[in-house]
Amino acid sequence: MTWLITGGAGYIGAHVVRAMRDAGEQAVVYDDLSTGIAERVPEGVPLVVGSTLDAGPLARTLTEHAVTGVVHLAAKKQVGESVDLPLHYYRENLEGLRVLLEAVTAASVRSFVFSSSAAVYGMPSAAAGELVTEETPCVPMSPYGETKLAGEWLVRATGRATGLSTASLRYFNVAGAATPELADVGVFNLVPMVFEKLTQDAPPRVFGDDYPTPDGTCVRDYIHVVDLAEAHVAAARALAASPGRDLTLNIGRGEGVSVREMIDLINAATGYDRPPVTAPRRPGDPARVVASADRIRGELGWKARYDVQDMITSAWAGWLRLHPEAARG
Ligand code: WQD
Repeated sequence: MTWLITGGAGYIGAHVVRAMRDAGEQAVVYDDLSTGIAERVPEGVPLVVGSTLDAGPLARTLTEHAVTGVVHLAAKKQVGESVDLPLHYYRENLEGLRVLLEAVTAASVRSFVFSSSAAVYGMPSAAAGELVTEETPCVPMSPYGETKLAGEWLVRATGRATGLSTASLRYFNVAGAATPELADVGVFNLVPMVFEKLTQDAPPRVFGDDYPTPDGTCVRDYIHVVDLAEAHVAAARALAASPGRDLTLNIGRGEGVSVREMIDLINAATGYDRPPVTAPRRPGDPARVVASADRIRGELGWKARYDVQDMITSAWAGWLRLHPEAARG
C-alpha cells in the first residue's frame, strides 16, 4: 500500500506520517504549506506541494505514486476564524474534500481516512460522568464543525456509491508531541495558551469558572498526538484489510480533565507556580465533552497509551525549543 497523507506537513499530519512510516507503510505527503512546515516531513517521504482544490496535481500525484489509500487531514481548523470566514472554511474543507474524492474515485484508491472532530457534536449534555458516543446527536456550533460533519456525510456517501472503504475519525482535544521538532507551533488551544502566559510572566486564564462541572471549569478529553497518530495507522490497516468498511470513531481517552486541573498540572510540570485568573466565558464553549472510546477499542483494538502528564511534558519540550527563555529551574 502507498498512503497519500494530505496535510502531512501539519502538526497532526506529521505525526501520522511518522507513525505510518514506523509501521512500515509507504507514505507520500500532499500539503499546500499554508500552515504546514516542509521540515516536518521526514527524509525519504516525498512531499508534493499542492492544494486539495487543484484536481490536476492531485490526480497526477495519485497516479505517479500509485496511491492505494488516502489519509485526509488538510483543512482549516480554527473554530473562531470559521465564524468570521464561513465561505473560506466551506471552500477549503468541503470543496477541497469534494475535489479530492473525485480524484480518489477516478484513481485506484481503495481506502479513505477522514480527519473529523468532536466539534461535530456541538454542545452535548454536560451531565457528570456522561460520555459522548458516536450515536450522540451531531449539532455542530460553528462553520468549522459543520464542514467536518458535512465532510463525514460526503465521505460515507462516496463510499456507499463507489465501494471506497472509509473511516471518519472524530478527534477530541489533541496535545503533546513525539519530538520537540514536531510540536504544535500554533497558540490556539489551552496547553500552548497557558505556556504563553507563563512565558510572559502573566497568569494563565480560565475562560469561565461557573460551569456546571465539579470545579466550575470546562471539562475536556485530551488525547496525545502520538496515540492519535497510531489510531490512524490502525484505521488505515483495517480499511485496507476489509473493503467496504464504513467506520465513524471517536478518538479520545474517555477521561475528563478540567481546565483548572490542566493549569495545575502545567504549573507543576514546568516549574512555574502561577495561579490562574478567571476571565469571561468564551462564547460557544460546551461545559463538558468527554469521549466514549469503546467503539474504537472494539473495532480496531486501539487504546490510548499516554496520559495528560505525557502530553504536557512533551508539549513543553517543544515550547522550550522555540522559547528557551521560558525554562525554569
Ligand atoms: C479547551 C478548554 C477553553 C485557553 C477546540 C475546538 C475543537 C478541536 C479542538 C479542532 C475550553 C479553555 C482555553 C485558555 C481556557 N479543534 N481555555 N483558557 O475549544 O475544547 O476545542 O480545539 O478540531 O473542535 O473547538 O479546545 O484548547 O481551545 O479549549 O480556559 O487560555 O480550555 O475555554 O474550555 P476546545 P481549547
